[in-house]
Amino acid sequence: MLTVPLPRIGTWDAWRDAARACIAARIPPEDILWNYDDGAGELFATALPPPIVRGTVKVPADFVDMARWVVWHSDPQRFARLYAMLWRLRLDKGVMADRADPDLAKLRQLEKAVHRCKHKMRAFVRFRDLRTGGPRRSFAAWFEPTHHTLEPNAPFFARRFADMDWMIVTPDVTADFKDGTLTFHPGQTKPDLPDDATEELWGTYFKNIFNPARLKVKAMTSEMPRKYWKNMPEAQHIPDMIANAEARVRDMAMAAPTLAPARVARIREQLQDTPQPASWNLLTAGLHDCTRCPLHGPATQVVPGTGPQNAPLMIVGEQPGDAEDLAGMPFVGPAGQLFDQLAQQAGLDRRQAYVTNAVKHFKYEQRGKRRIHQNPDTPEIEHCRFWVETEIRLVKPRLILAMGGTAAESLTGSRKDLLKRRGKVEDTPHGPVFLTVHPSYLLRLPSHLKPDAQDAFVNDLRAVVAKLAA
Ligand code: URA
Repeated sequence: MLTVPLPRIGTWDAWRDAARACIAARIPPEDILWNYDDGAGELFATALPPPIVRGTVKVPADFVDMARWVVWHSDPQRFARLYAMLWRLRLDKGVMADRADPDLAKLRQLEKAVHRCKHKMRAFVRFRDLRTGGPRRSFAAWFEPTHHTLEPNAPFFARRFADMDWMIVTPDVTADFKDGTLTFHPGQTKPDLPDDATEELWGTYFKNIFNPARLKVKAMTSEMPRKYWKNMPEAQHIPDMIANAEARVRDMAMAAPTLAPARVARIREQLQDTPQPASWNLLTAGLHDCTRCPLHGPATQVVPGTGPQNAPLMIVGEQPGDAEDLAGMPFVGPAGQLFDQLAQQAGLDRRQAYVTNAVKHFKYEQRGKRRIHQNPDTPEIEHCRFWVETEIRLVKPRLILAMGGTAAESLTGSRKDLLKRRGKVEDTPHGPVFLTVHPSYLLRLPSHLKPDAQDAFVNDLRAVVAKLAA
């Protein structure tokens, strides 16, 4: 049995050179004991085969790319696994392409874990300013990686922080970057590092960017595993932030801008006179507190329906747009203005209808200063259907006009073939639903197609008026 010593510093070079020599000397895997310096005792070695000249043993490049990461894993079997694969590659170069091969799959798994650990170190190392007063600023950090990733990761920090001196200490190895030169030394126990004024700032920043309404503890602890928290100054705030998240979401909802003040007063007045105050109050309060889907987070405010609470017609659009999000009222922007104009041509008085949307918050993507409309997805539509159903129960309309695919999906369960289904009434569990296109579809059409499309829309609205009159 050949025993090969592998040092903690320079492990990759040592393993690569020894593996090459052993392959060249045709020593099978079962005759080698890889003796990694885990700090437990003396390294001992039997006589190794003589070193070989680089290039004598041909190894696929993708094996080398993988092995140079796997050697840093903490699995005690990693060196033996790598060597066994190298042994197989002598006769079968195709193994590296065989994704179903269990030995390769295991090595890929180890490689992935090392890459993940490497990224965690890049994200979670927290340097403290040593304030040594020299010409270069000087920092130190203590870190406890899952695998032996400091050495392969240190060149990244050297590039990133080339203009300062720094030291990263781990239980395994210490990396020291001084005057542009990187050296490695044995690991240490946790050093007593000075308090750093930037830590408080960092903690404040962290608390401020935390959105309690978006809290997903599982996803958060997967991204920032708990074991790293103890060395991250900002993480001391996490338990409190989690514990208080629910209360903060409630406070945020109470404090959030809701309806424009003038409208608040008017709606409150209406609500006081309404024959069903409890139900409408509940609907309004529920809408303002709604966190059923993530859209409430970025939106300015919820946009409830408006109009007579006993309207014979309920008009359902898609979702508030930019203008509606700011105003807190549906259909006041360009699509709403076009609708008003075409409705007038059709003899439909919007003030006699209860006008609302299938989704009550504006969904958008921020691009520079602009907020670009995004289509709501099915889960968002589903969550919001709860409110649409409540509105239908309260208003009890004789007919519902669904404008566009989202309203069709919300009320009939399908947005398919809207252009074929438009102009007709469909029976649904919510009552009769008349389908048509959305006014913003008319706005987007090329100008030569607009007149006909608008005429067809006016005809649909005329049909709605006729059905209500019948
Ligand atoms: N589009 C809609 O569907 N609803 C609005 O309120 C505004 C634009």
